[in-house]
Amino acid sequence: MTLLNLDFIKDFFTHNQVYKEDVNGNEFTELKRVPYRWTHGATDLTLGDGLLIYSIIHYMRAKTIVCLGSGGGFIPRIMTQARVDLYDSQIFEGNRDYNWGDIGVTYVVDADNGIGGNIDWKTEDSFFRKTFFPRVILDTTENSYYNFFVKEDIKIDYLHIDAGHSYDDVKNDFELYSKLLSPNGIISIHDTDESFEKDLIITKDISDQHHNDDYTSGPSKLIKELKYNSEWEIFNFFNNGIFRSKPSSTGLTILQRCKN
Ligand SMILES: C[S@@+](CC[C@H](N)C(=O)[O-])C[C@H]1O[C@@H](n2cnc3c(N)ncnc32)[C@H](O)[C@@H]1O
Repeated sequence: MTLLNLDFIKDFFTHNQVYKEDVNGNEFTELKRVPYRWTHGATDLTLGDGLLIYSIIHYMRAKTIVCLGSGGGFIPRIMTQARVDLYDSQIFEGNRDYNWGDIGVTYVVDADNGIGGNIDWKTEDSFFRKTFFPRVILDTTENSYYNFFVKEDIKIDYLHIDAGHSYDDVKNDFELYSKLLSPNGIISIHDTDESFEKDLIITKDISDQHHNDDYTSGPSKLIKELKYNSEWEIFNFFNNGIFRSKPSSTGLTILQRCKN
């Protein structure tokens, strides 16, 4: 027995299902790794830092969830599953519809600008979109902030920041979107562990798995500053180096506004 459904993790979260035909015309399903899952320290059967995000959403009963940037849709699919599980375990009630019912919403904002990576779920029939039905905004985080979230007066229960990775981008995302945080709201920032990148070898060919050469310096600079900001409680979840023979996360930092 395991608390985690390992087959479900493998078939829906750490892989995309691709439908194919063999030479005899028989259909079969191929599993393809979700791009960038390695940045979360996820493997075929583990969710890496996604398990932290799942647990916080489940524990805090977060309903309105925003994911800024997601090349492979790995984190937003976990976010939606956490909300659906809250319904199935009789915490949320009402209409179970993934994004238009009573169990909240997962918004994914991505400019599809190739900065820091590429998205693989743009088409509506991508495995991610037709399985998890996120509400997608294909625009920059700044435009989306002013032209959608502010205009619709949205309050955010859980915010994940993983879009532009320059210091200016991540700081701007944090400063703008934290204004919309609900009283118990939580923010996570990805790629905050500089030690991960220090000895990482970067290949120079462009592929689906391409990741910026320098992606932790902006986020890690921001969280170092926030450590001295008395407005925020901050906790780093860094597992790089604990178990060298397996993938580890590029760092996840969790923040909540101080209560007093
Ligand atoms: C590739 S993701 C990082 C990988 C990520 N760890 C994951 O789980 O998929 C970064 C994404 O941010 C997007 N992006 C970069 N700058 C952006 C901006 N200013 N506004 C919105 N999206 C942006 C890119 O299109 C890219 O898909």
